[in-house]
Amino acid sequence: MKLIEVKDYQEMSRRAAEFIIEKVRNAHAINLGLATGGTPVGTYQCLVEDHKKNLTSYKNVTTFNLDEYVGLSGKNPNSYRYYMNENLFNHIDIDASHTHIPQGNAEDLEKECIFYEQEIERHGGIDLQVLGIGSNGHIGFNEPGTSFNTGTHIVDLAPSTREANARYFASQEEVPSKAITMGISTILKSKEILLLVSGERKQEALVKLFEGEVDERFPASVLKNHPCVTIIADEAAIPEKVRN
Ligand code: GLP
Repeated sequence: MKLIEVKDYQEMSRRAAEFIIEKVRNAHAINLGLATGGTPVGTYQCLVEDHKKNLTSYKNVTTFNLDEYVGLSGKNPNSYRYYMNENLFNHIDIDASHTHIPQGNAEDLEKECIFYEQEIERHGGIDLQVLGIGSNGHIGFNEPGTSFNTGTHIVDLAPSTREANARYFASQEEVPSKAITMGISTILKSKEILLLVSGERKQEALVKLFEGEVDERFPASVLKNHPCVTIIADEAAIPEKVRN
């Protein structure tokens, strides 16, 4: 795992966007895995600015998002489909039919999981997967204890995750209790991974990631088994012992 230390959230966002833009510009076509949450918002803003200024084109880009809440349609402002449209897709020249997000309101959720996994395969797999990290080490919505062998599946969200994400909802009760997420094995199949970490509240997770064992009780630890992981983390997220 390669760690790039940056000053603050803004610099993390800028560096992450540069990393993505370079791949998009150099590839004839590319499949990007995308994340939601607070962390990548600034990165998406930088991608939009660059698209307007430097005309980086997303015509040959296909995207697969990590996860979606169960029960929310794409029209619901708290859905990840809505988030992606608002923060990125509506502002770049990507073909909407090239953007994939699990359907949280699918009638048959099990079928949706199989379909999503197959769609990723059918497109040739993910070239670059962008990830954030939960303070309990979750990646996507793979909560602690998730088997490393899982593909796209339905999860029960941990109370701490529902609490952390309650800030986007009117109340904590409104946070869905389930989600569809790419599994750990789906994520590990990506050719390259870019993990973004910002803020003091992620310090403990970063320490565990660097100093702990690979263990299903801390899902992000599996990234140590991947040959091509870059982590961009800001000063607030990096405690002394990781830095040295
Ligand atoms: C959410 C998402 C993850 C995200 C993580 C961290 O629940 N499902 O994909 O990486 O939690 O979120 P944030 O960036 O807001 O800290």
